[in-house]
Amino acid sequence: MKVLVIGSGGREHALVWKLRQSPRVSQVYCAPGNGGIAEEAECLPADVKNLDSLVAVAEQVRPDLTVVGPELPLSLGVVDEFTRRGWHIFGPSKAAAKLESSKSFAKEFLQRYHIPTAHFAICDSIDEVLAALPHFHAPVVVKADGLAAGKGVVICRTKEEAASAAAEMFSGKTLGEAGRRVVLEECLQGDELSFLVLSDGERVAPLVAAQDHKRIGDGDTGPNTGGMGAYSTASIVDEPMTQWLLQHVARPVVTGMKAEGAEYKGILYCGLMMTARGPMVLEFNCRFGDPETQPILMRLESDLLEALEASIEGRVSEGDFRWSRDASVCVVMSSGGYPGTYELGKKIMGLEDAGKIEGVKVFHAGTTRRDGAFFTAGGRVLGVTSRAPDLETAVDRVYAAASKIGFEGAHYRKDIASRAVKK
Ligand code: AMP
Ligand code: GLY
Repeated sequence: MKVLVIGSGGREHALVWKLRQSPRVSQVYCAPGNGGIAEEAECLPADVKNLDSLVAVAEQVRPDLTVVGPELPLSLGVVDEFTRRGWHIFGPSKAAAKLESSKSFAKEFLQRYHIPTAHFAICDSIDEVLAALPHFHAPVVVKADGLAAGKGVVICRTKEEAASAAAEMFSGKTLGEAGRRVVLEECLQGDELSFLVLSDGERVAPLVAAQDHKRIGDGDTGPNTGGMGAYSTASIVDEPMTQWLLQHVARPVVTGMKAEGAEYKGILYCGLMMTARGPMVLEFNCRFGDPETQPILMRLESDLLEALEASIEGRVSEGDFRWSRDASVCVVMSSGGYPGTYELGKKIMGLEDAGKIEGVKVFHAGTTRRDGAFFTAGGRVLGVTSRAPDLETAVDRVYAAASKIGFEGAHYRKDIASRAVKK
């Protein structure tokens, strides 16, 4: 079978790596891919913001299955377009992807189905924000309604800050159309959890849970990023909690979407806050998480291809995945300055030595390959990932590997999974 993966990050590298292990996969393509992916798949130039470009790639390679990594092509309707042409593609339709592409839609949906989430208000003007703010306690979370590549959420210590963050979003200067509508939210406290399930539109199968580390700095300081590291262990969510999340979050979402005529197929990523009042939904993503996919797939022992096909063909069952009891950790190495401005084209050293450490796989995100060497080409550059029988060893391995890698301005957090290790 020929498989095409759409995207160019660490998540897509992990998908390519895992799909290649399927005995039924003969060839993997990636559009557009990156320097590291090019070692394992044939990369083809493509613009993920442009459906015509993705259709052209698929016409060229004629894949038996296409797997979509990022949210943007999903929100543009790549699944609808490929399905209309009779091509097999994994992921939700444009209508179903609205759970991620519109935060106001997601919040009203959560409310309709009594799924626990933070108290909120949807505002279309600064006057509406000013009228709603007295009903909130500071801190207040201000969110742009549309897709904002991780930059659409501001946690404001005061209501004045919240008003000015909302005004900035309405101005359209930083986030464009994504900020034309704003969601105000109560600020929740607790541990964050990424709980992903595979759905076929009716049934769901849970993946192992992971914890992301969103802030740029150690101790969860500094601005939010796409994710600076993640880990997954068997103990992160126990079986009763998994069942609770399936019953009170994942299944009601899938059932609700079907009832509303927008059947949800693909990965449903539930971003949760584990609060004193119980788990509450922070957000949905309509795709695999990045970097969560790297440690999650490191623990997957069954065939990923079979699971993705079960979603498309409507035969998902709860036991579709077989997982290792091992722990896994991913540490993201980023360009100096990220998530602000940064320079590109820095030569990356030490990749081979890092990859030789037991249980380690270095996934590439923003890299290019030139004359046998790798250079930085994005904010998040690498996802150094390890697997080991226990979390402590996985942490030791991942940091031993990261310390072997260097490029000018390289940054990574030194405390990924440290709170879980202390527990
Ligand atoms: P989102 O894109 O909605 O997940 O927001 C990005 C990040 O902002 C989340 O991963 C949380 O760290 C934080 N966040 C979002 N909503 C809230 C909230 N209601 N309370 C506290 N933190 C939040
Ligand atoms: N790591 C968060 C995300 O994939 O959106």
